[in-house]
Amino acid sequence: MTDFSTDALHGSSMKDAYGALVTPIYNSSTFIFDSTAQGAARFALEEAGYIYGRIGNPTCAALEETMAKLEGGEAALVTASGMGAITATIWTCISAGEEIVADKTLYGCTFEFFEHHLSRFGVKVHFIEMTDEAQLRAALNEKTRIVYLETPANPNLKITDIEKTAQIAHAYNPAIRVICDNTFCSPYLQKPLSLGADLVVHSATKYLNGHGDLLAGVVVGDLETITQIRLVGIKDMTGAVLAPNEAYLFHRGVQTLPVRMERHCASAMKIARYLEKNDKVEAVFYPGLESHPGHEIAKKQMRAFGGMVSFIVKGGREKAAIVADSVKIATLAVSLGATQTLIEHPASMTHSPYSEEELEAAGIPAGLIRLSVGLEDPDDLIRDLQQAFEKV
Ligand SMILES: Cc1ncc(COP(=O)(O)O)c(C=O)c1O
Repeated sequence: MTDFSTDALHGSSMKDAYGALVTPIYNSSTFIFDSTAQGAARFALEEAGYIYGRIGNPTCAALEETMAKLEGGEAALVTASGMGAITATIWTCISAGEEIVADKTLYGCTFEFFEHHLSRFGVKVHFIEMTDEAQLRAALNEKTRIVYLETPANPNLKITDIEKTAQIAHAYNPAIRVICDNTFCSPYLQKPLSLGADLVVHSATKYLNGHGDLLAGVVVGDLETITQIRLVGIKDMTGAVLAPNEAYLFHRGVQTLPVRMERHCASAMKIARYLEKNDKVEAVFYPGLESHPGHEIAKKQMRAFGGMVSFIVKGGREKAAIVADSVKIATLAVSLGATQTLIEHPASMTHSPYSEEELEAAGIPAGLIRLSVGLEDPDDLIRDLQQAFEKV
């Protein structure tokens, strides 16, 4: 067994015809068959090999091998965005009349898909407080096919015990698929499959690629399910295929994931401690702080506490907006996990699909600011935040 850092560099066994060190970008939409018989055998999945770019591509396959290894799954499928990974997975694993149990704190578009769109297709989603065992047990029934969570959750960094959630769901019905969005951690910090989850989804737009220059997603799990998602969720239902150029950049980004994550985590911890002492801050949410309600679980299931910090500015939305509008090094933009620090206001941006009441129920107050701590010098970032707070 090799270490994560080694696997991030040597996870793919792909060798091209010329011995290139780096997997080339195979910009081919289709692949040649030697004969009609061979084409038929490939379509019937009786012979391995490429068919058409919507079903697979060598540049993507090399990245998928690396991602499966890093998440500790049998197989991976890369997609055109995180929402591509999430929707292709859900469409494959659910039918009309069946149900999903989901945590009530989710990325805004995942929430919107679950709350407003799946219902149009006869799929019911129960939103619960996943950290409350009693609520989970009460929501499970014979129609439940999926239990879905994010941990740390976007945007308030709530921590859910993956192992306990998977145990409860599987004890009720081993066929239930526990799906964990691991975007905020990356596999360097947390491996949901090793804790009992069945599938892991990611917005690779974030830490996995890490440089804020592309959209991508990935889903990792057992080979049979990943093959179904490839042939149903991607090939037929969404077409959310990752382009080979993007796969190349994503694979390049993954090589430095461990070093980037170490720096994101160390800087986020320093900034969280600074915010904790700031008298203009009502509350700080960072799983590394002893004051975080999920701190002990985070210590158990995460290697370190991540690069995301959220905080409530005293005085609500208006004062929070002054901080977000006044920073000079941090950039006011949605997204996260990039080299550069990004700051945003979830209630009016990433989580605007939630109504006022839903925001409150999900623990997303109007004064909450979400900070994706980048790779700048952390003391420069603290000075930047300090001058922004002085404007409040
Ligand atoms: C936790 C989480 N999951 C999924 C997504 C969707 O990813 P993408 O924007 O790559 O479609 C995001 C995007 O911000 C996210 O934060």
